[in-house]
Amino acid sequence: MLTGYRPLKTLKLNVLFLAAEADPLVKVGGLGDVAGSLPPALQQLTTEKTRGVKLDVRLVIPFHSVIRQKHLELEYLFEYEVPSEAEPIIAQAYRLLINGVEIYLISGAPFREDAPVYDPNPAIDGLKFFFFSLAALELVKKLDWQPDILHANDWHTAIAVYALKVSKSHDPFFKDVASVLTIHNLLFMGAGTEAALDVFGFPASQSPDLPWWAKKFPLPLGLETAERIVPVSPTYAREILTPEYGGGLDEFLKTRQESITGIVNGIDQVSWNPATDPAIRANFDISTLFVRQNNKEALTAEFSLNPDPKIPLLILIARMDQQKGVDLAVNGLSQMTGQRWQAIILGTGSPEIEDACRQMEREHPERVRAAIRFDSRLARRMYAGGDIILMPSRYEPCGLAQMIAMRYGCVPLARATGGLQDTIIDIADNPERGTGFLFKPATPEAFAETLHRALALFPDSAHWSAIQRQGMCQDFSWENSALQYVQLYQDLLKGRA
Ligand code: GLC
Repeated sequence: MLTGYRPLKTLKLNVLFLAAEADPLVKVGGLGDVAGSLPPALQQLTTEKTRGVKLDVRLVIPFHSVIRQKHLELEYLFEYEVPSEAEPIIAQAYRLLINGVEIYLISGAPFREDAPVYDPNPAIDGLKFFFFSLAALELVKKLDWQPDILHANDWHTAIAVYALKVSKSHDPFFKDVASVLTIHNLLFMGAGTEAALDVFGFPASQSPDLPWWAKKFPLPLGLETAERIVPVSPTYAREILTPEYGGGLDEFLKTRQESITGIVNGIDQVSWNPATDPAIRANFDISTLFVRQNNKEALTAEFSLNPDPKIPLLILIARMDQQKGVDLAVNGLSQMTGQRWQAIILGTGSPEIEDACRQMEREHPERVRAAIRFDSRLARRMYAGGDIILMPSRYEPCGLAQMIAMRYGCVPLARATGGLQDTIIDIADNPERGTGFLFKPATPEAFAETLHRALALFPDSAHWSAIQRQGMCQDFSWENSALQYVQLYQDLLKGRA
């Protein structure tokens, strides 16, 4: 008999995961990627990895009309009531299974037919997502499935955390449920949804620490009441405590500092794999990096650019808004026309930024292309064929494109902020292990200076491919992040009966 052998006790941990969107059912932005990937990553962890914890993760999202249009095979569960100040509002629940995760879809009158996932009118979205969040809590009661952890994401579901705190005082079902709130973007706080708080009969915050204007916004209410707050990278977790990034909540967040832990997102390493990606011309991996050149050739041909392999091809793939700093790159690039480079820009968003990109294409037709559209297959061809990806974000809670780019051998040049700083190693800081280039001040000059640095290195192809390889062998798997979340869940439950 083995001495000292103790069988591991299996501990069951139920996680109720709420989000406004989840890939592959519905995806508008990065939140959809995370909500589509983290629940299955948690579910797939073996008990060896979790040291005895067996997770049962259930994802709940709204039954948006884009999901309806997919005509999926769903199991209809039941209809039930969600209490509000006036009449209760009826909700319907459906179930399906994807990647081993039970997913529940909730519909009801606040989700009108043909409604977009996010409405331009915040009052409409307030009603939708408050209803959804409360319906998700009612749902688990109806199912008699008691979560250990309520894991909410962003402002849309933050109100579930607040409601949990309020319910706990009078509902034994929720007495032992611990709450986690992940922040994907602090600046979307749910402003303009205040009326919904009254519709569902919830009081404004009584906390003296919250600024007066935030006392009826769902995200701050969730941040006040969540037991743990998880910004999507350690650097972002520090940044939100400063006036520059805190959006007016920095002083308040400092009062919650002990409960804040940054955890970086992962990427889906099966879907994002240059060795198997069917959307690219020539598949390659770290040992066949030379094949990658075919993808660059195909891409320059597609955009009628000079196919000279010695000219570095810059790519920029972004939602065109203030956050992403596209203007910094456009201005910085126009200061660098004395050097050899080509650029392809892909994305849509604010008309002014779109125009600035088109304008640059008009001024530099020999080297700039602006593809003002949403095109996920083109994005893949760009990751596979571009030499440098530009990510000049003013702030970036985590960022996914830099991780994808590195896997595809495309070297990131990014602002040293949030998750960009946590996932990219600057070559200047670590010549052996460096994976990219970082710049600090959010100015076109700082961007241009760093691009100079990158362009100077590019002709040294041995060095350049060493940088590419460093990036390609980074581990950005979801398993890493999922294990950190499990640790956090366990910490929370420690000491509970
Ligand atoms: C938001 C953030 C982005 C992050 C994503 C997923 O879209 O802007 O930085 O990667 O959420 O957490």
